[in-house]
Amino acid sequence: MSVQLEVDQELQEKMSGWYREFHQYPELSMQEFETTQKIAGELQKMGVNLIELGTSVGVVGVIDGNGPGPEVVLRADIDALPIQEQSGLPFASQVQDVSHMCGHDFHTSALLGAASLLLRNRNSWSGRVKLLFQPGEETTAGAKYMLEKGALTGGEKAIFGLHNAPFLPAGSVGIRSGPFFAAADTLHIQITGRKGHAALPHLTVDATVAASAVVMGLQTAVSRAVNPLDPAVVTIGSLHSGQGHNVVSDLAEMWGTIRTFSQAVRNLLYETVPRIVKQVAAGYGATAEVEILPQTPEVNNDPGLTASFREAALMVVDPGRLVDVEPIMAAEDFAVYQQKLPGCYFLLGTGDPSQHVEAPWHDPKFRVNERVMPLAASLLAASAIHHLSQPSMAAVAPSTGD
Ligand code: NI
Repeated sequence: MSVQLEVDQELQEKMSGWYREFHQYPELSMQEFETTQKIAGELQKMGVNLIELGTSVGVVGVIDGNGPGPEVVLRADIDALPIQEQSGLPFASQVQDVSHMCGHDFHTSALLGAASLLLRNRNSWSGRVKLLFQPGEETTAGAKYMLEKGALTGGEKAIFGLHNAPFLPAGSVGIRSGPFFAAADTLHIQITGRKGHAALPHLTVDATVAASAVVMGLQTAVSRAVNPLDPAVVTIGSLHSGQGHNVVSDLAEMWGTIRTFSQAVRNLLYETVPRIVKQVAAGYGATAEVEILPQTPEVNNDPGLTASFREAALMVVDPGRLVDVEPIMAAEDFAVYQQKLPGCYFLLGTGDPSQHVEAPWHDPKFRVNERVMPLAASLLAASAIHHLSQPSMAAVAPSTGD
């Protein structure tokens, strides 16, 4: 089998063009209408068949190899963030307060590039590769949505996806077997007190004071309730209370997030967080309502598939570029697919201070590294081709409509 996974000059220029266009016209989660059109158009130009899902956001395309065989999925996310870009790039976002500050434009362009590589190498592999361009990763709504719309049919054997990583050196590949990204739950708290004159606090129940104590009390939810050897985070990201400088607030509202790696710790915090909130608030004479909204399970990389990905990566990079990375408390709804089929999520290092690529994800000065984009395409294509060529995969009978 001879496979040519190098991105040539022509494809590199195409990828840069796609990336810069996506970058200039970012769209928020589940509103990626133009982005979807653009992706579908480029895939059709290449001759990729699209699966009609009846959606206006998100695209699924399929490429068949030179014979029957199993099916693997390559996934990229396509959405942007509600952040005003300050990258200083000449092709910065043209949309006020919306920008690709997580680099999903890079992932999208890389998967389009991978499609082109898969087509060029079509005679070297058999089976089917499904290209899944997913909306709404940032809100963790997109993976569920794509599953509901039938993006996966149940016959797929594996799924691969990637994220750029400015904290890893450009061109390195971050690999992790087992738990990788945390499970996430959204926390919503309302503290109710009694309104009154700011100068007569003894006649009120101050929701702001109670809420402040709740925020401080929650700092012990992890440090005192969870085994120190189990990673967990409880963060209150937003707190709003009251309307005027001379009125005691009767309502404080908070939003936060809970991150965990095991269902046992998740269950423990489901119990501990409401208890602390309600009892601390009660101590101030206030009442509290607590809602915990599950967002996404943890990304848990299949060991066998991760081993297969490691071999695939070595088709395009030197062994010295492979980095074993630690788990990360961020969440990623790639995890939702992993509930259905084995998956391997990996990181591609983009960090390069000489190219001003060092700001973290979601920072207004965030940048990706266009020089690494060809490698992203090669890695995606390699992961599919290599996995489809495994003897254990070839032994799998072609799907007969299961
Ligand atoms: Ni992201």
